[in-house]
Amino acid sequence: MKGEMKNILVIGACGQIGSELIVALRERYGRDNVVAADIKEPKNDEIASSGPFYYADVTERACLDVIIRKHKIDTIYNMAAILSASGEKNPQLCWKVNMGGVINVLQAAIDYDMVRVIIPSSIAAFGPDTPRENTPNDTILRPTTMYGVTKVCGERLCDYYVKRFGVDVRGLRYPGIISYKTLPGGGTTDYAVEIFYKAIEEGRYTCFLEENTLLPMMYMPDCIRATIMLAEADFDRLEHHNDFNVAAFSFTPGELARAIKKYIPEFEIEYKPDYRQEIANSWPTSIDDSVARREWNWKPEWTIDSMTRDMLEKLSERHKQGKLYDM
Ligand code: SER
Repeated sequence: MKGEMKNILVIGACGQIGSELIVALRERYGRDNVVAADIKEPKNDEIASSGPFYYADVTERACLDVIIRKHKIDTIYNMAAILSASGEKNPQLCWKVNMGGVINVLQAAIDYDMVRVIIPSSIAAFGPDTPRENTPNDTILRPTTMYGVTKVCGERLCDYYVKRFGVDVRGLRYPGIISYKTLPGGGTTDYAVEIFYKAIEEGRYTCFLEENTLLPMMYMPDCIRATIMLAEADFDRLEHHNDFNVAAFSFTPGELARAIKKYIPEFEIEYKPDYRQEIANSWPTSIDDSVARREWNWKPEWTIDSMTRDMLEKLSERHKQGKLYDM
């Protein structure tokens, strides 16, 4: 163990997960000790006004070095990535951003003798040959998307850095993440967020996946809790490092539509599957997260019903104020 995490850098801080992780980490570690960086401009004031913010491209090592030196960064969360659907549109960019980011962060961890780095993976690391139901932690990883390929390479590269260089790098395989603060972008599970905005705004939604496409999902508060729990877990208890399955619940678009109808009875959904259907078909339907439960006490708190109620409450409130798309 190399000491405590004191000065944290979150790369990709304006993204769906980054924008909420940054707030949670600043509450926990102090606002000036958690530096936000992104290639995009912050859409909301919260990120830029609640602590330091920098424009940075994760593929440019020199950009990262300036921030790391200035703030004596000892911990990095790398949340910058091109997701599955965008990755199929531009596979080379997906490789450049996802793998370029991972290797830069890992090398920086060595060069600055960092305490810890967090580099997430995804259920996209699995593929059509993986057992789809209750997918085990340690199983076949033969993804058929570029995003999935970068996630498997990332997991293996991170594990290599643990063994070869003693870098304390950790990561979990996120399922589809549902949230109301920042919209996701370019993912196959994005429908599960869009549907809430459209249900409130228009009372109807056209889904790009088929009605019975079952996928593993998680509500953002569980996602943030899981990420910080793993980051703070006792290293000596970890047998895995960069490939932890985490689960909360699974549902189909049809089941989610029925959960929304309980609160908005007139809500209507139609299905027009596109190229993302094939991606969804290659992923698990449910996830076995017993390894994370055993090694760092993971346990989800939210269900599809409690998540649906909370999403509709929060978004309806914003809609009433005419700020549905503002954070
Ligand atoms: N939410 C991601 C995607 O759909 C999966 O990690 O690409």
